[in-house]
Amino acid sequence: MPKKTCLAIVLAAGAGTRMRSALPKVLHAIAGRSLLAHVLAAVRDSGIDRTAVVVGPDAEAVGAEAHRALPEAEVFLQSERRGTAHAVLAARSAIARGADDILVIFGDTPLISSATLRAMRDAIAHGASIAVLGFRPPDPTGYGRLVTNGHRLVAIREEREASDIERRIDLCNGGVMALRGEVALEILDRIGHANAKGEFYLTDAVTVADGMALEAVVLETGEDEVLGVDNRAKLARGEAMMQQRLRAAALEAGVTMVAPETVFLSADTRLGRDVVIEPHVVFGPGVSVDEGAVIHAFSHLEGAHVGKGASVGPYARLRPGANLGARSRIGNFVEVKAAEIGEGAKANHLAYIGDGSVGAAANIGAGTIFCNYDGKNKYRTEVGKDAFIGSNSALVAPVKIGDNAYVGSGSVITDNVPAGALAIGRGRQVNKPDWGGRKPAARTPARSSSRAAKTPAPGRNAGKKKPKTKR
Ligand code: UD1
Ligand code: MG
Repeated sequence: MPKKTCLAIVLAAGAGTRMRSALPKVLHAIAGRSLLAHVLAAVRDSGIDRTAVVVGPDAEAVGAEAHRALPEAEVFLQSERRGTAHAVLAARSAIARGADDILVIFGDTPLISSATLRAMRDAIAHGASIAVLGFRPPDPTGYGRLVTNGHRLVAIREEREASDIERRIDLCNGGVMALRGEVALEILDRIGHANAKGEFYLTDAVTVADGMALEAVVLETGEDEVLGVDNRAKLARGEAMMQQRLRAAALEAGVTMVAPETVFLSADTRLGRDVVIEPHVVFGPGVSVDEGAVIHAFSHLEGAHVGKGASVGPYARLRPGANLGARSRIGNFVEVKAAEIGEGAKANHLAYIGDGSVGAAANIGAGTIFCNYDGKNKYRTEVGKDAFIGSNSALVAPVKIGDNAYVGSGSVITDNVPAGALAIGRGRQVNKPDWGGRKPAARTPARSSSRAAKTPAPGRNAGKKKPKTKR
């Protein structure tokens, strides 16, 4: 059988009032990806040739997101919101160009799978003129009911138009419809708006097809897949269901998760084989973790790459552009942003590594800060391989620390350090012998301006004895 061509039409012109949001409904995200992008990913994975996205007025952001998620998508404007069939016809010119089958999908059903979309297309390939995705919700109120006669689907009745008997039907319209391309426009053009809402209902396509002696069929799926997100509670439910799916897929692919229910993944998270994820880890968008790496508890990663066998956390934060080499270690309370960490390099405690690079096998001591920002611009810090940065050092960018160089603890480094050199940039220690005996009495709060204030504080005024420097 020659490959069938398909046009997918994604409806995203809804007002989304129930979200009570400044953001258009389909731009709300689950698993780090907008609802619309989830639908477009399923569309792409089902091997569709062309995709049209129908947006409402004032929804440039929706069109932009459609292009971001699927660059070849064509965006059509439905300037007046007059129903689902009216919305489909906003993409009339795309339909008129012809396709073997046409799939209509709502932009707010993020859990729809590519396998189901393919099954819908198969139904058309096997002779049906319309295929509708049905499901049986525990409470069918509000959904269109699928009226069947044996195997044949004869009508979809919206709640408002349904008779008492029809309302007792538990098989409902999930919202996805496939139409035979050669009859699609004819069917759609015959749909009227003589109903309670005065809208052009896409669901009436079934009655029209029946009148034209064309066959309509139902495919059934589970409730989860057709969840339509139209309020925040359903957004949270969608998130929970998507997380379950992503966790199951990760476990299946050979990832160890100690407590999967506490790990949050993004739709695009890539985890290699034998990666271990401890409890309470959050993966924002754009993270990949290579084979054998361990992400310890309570870490937060976003836009980052973790190399083979590396160790992250507990309590680490990897921000966009963090790129960790193989077997590197980023420990507790360490933040890495836009920085390369070389193979086997370590920053085990309490550090900020932003805008720079750390060479292979270098050691970044506890409390090291890459001072990357002068209030206006950001600058880079480059640490060479095998370098050692002593604890509590501030590296003031732009600055370079050469290979195998040392920085003494507590230094503020403002000049480049040549390879192999030791740099110390800090106040010298002063020891005052026998000072303990002359310690002033504890200050009483009422007389704060007297003796105690005049006594020099320890450490001020350089002493005579040359202090020893310690790294
Ligand atoms: C629709 C179906 C109903 C089905 C239910 C499943 C119709 C007439 N009814 O009802 O049978 O059980 O979905 O969730 O199709 N949209 C536009 N432009 C419009 C109107 C809608 O783009 O003018 C988009 C919305 O953004 C949304 C989708 O179409 O993504 C469905 O619209 P909605 O208003 O949610 O339809 P329901 O009343 O839920
Ligand atoms: Mg709806």
